[in-house]
Amino acid sequence: MSSRPAAPDALLQLDGVTKSYGGRSPTLALRGVDLQIDRGEFVALTGPSGSGKSTLLNIIGLLDRPTAGRMLFQGLDVAQLDEDATTAVRGRGIGFVFQFHHLLPAFTALENVWLPMLADRGRLDPEIRQRAAALIEEVGLADRANYKATDISGGQQQRVAVARALVMRPQLVLADEPTGNLDTETGAQVFRLLRDINERYGTAFVIITHDEQLAAKCDRIVHMVDGLVEADTIQPRRPSDVVPETTDKSILK
Ligand SMILES: Nc1ncnc2c1ncn2[C@@H]1O[C@H](COP(=O)(O)OP(=O)(O)OP(=O)(O)O)[C@@H](O)[C@H]1O
Ligand SMILES: [Mg+2]
Repeated sequence: MSSRPAAPDALLQLDGVTKSYGGRSPTLALRGVDLQIDRGEFVALTGPSGSGKSTLLNIIGLLDRPTAGRMLFQGLDVAQLDEDATTAVRGRGIGFVFQFHHLLPAFTALENVWLPMLADRGRLDPEIRQRAAALIEEVGLADRANYKATDISGGQQQRVAVARALVMRPQLVLADEPTGNLDTETGAQVFRLLRDINERYGTAFVIITHDEQLAAKCDRIVHMVDGLVEADTIQPRRPSDVVPETTDKSILK
């Protein structure tokens, strides 16, 4: 295992990360992953089912711990953090978007966005309301802010989930098949929203996707096979990928 120091631009660095799941017949889901993600990168994580993508994303997101190996987040060795410190680093530094939005159905779109910040601060101050309202507008849902989460479309729910992931102004957003539950056009709009946020705020993204067309629009494709990074490809940037002619501007109004 390498023990090189974190590179200055590194947001995240993994050295020889393994993960085995216990049980009767233990599974070695990650078999020694070396990976560096820099600030502001927009990365697709691809690979066949069972190759370890979600396992890797959960470890990167401090939702789970490696069995062995080292992970640095912003230069901090996460193995050294106790439970409370891990929760704090995760809550402030990392946003999550999942395939199913996991919005709280009894709450409005706006309330769903401010909840993580309320949980962090313990009280609802004006800044929280302001920031949540600005984000709801940013994802194009100003006119749906006070609708219950169940009373908006799947694509709109996923945009609320994106706004919620951003409310703590994380340096990194992790998305596990964020468009997997959406039709192609709606999925493409949500994906474009992620890209736009990446470009505007320099937020780094790691996005698991089975959609090759979406992966091709990322800056970099990390391809996993059988618990290892099999290929790590930097993509040529094409301006047309960033602002496609068909961009629906309404999503960013
Ligand atoms: N909680 C768990 N307990 C036991 N084994 C697990 C657990 N989670 C994942 N695995 C196993 O670890 C391996 C990697 O799974 P993982 O979910 O990371 O794959 P994936 O690439 O995300 O697949 P998919 O594309 O189907 O979501 C698989 O063999 C899987 O069965
Ligand atoms: Mg998965």
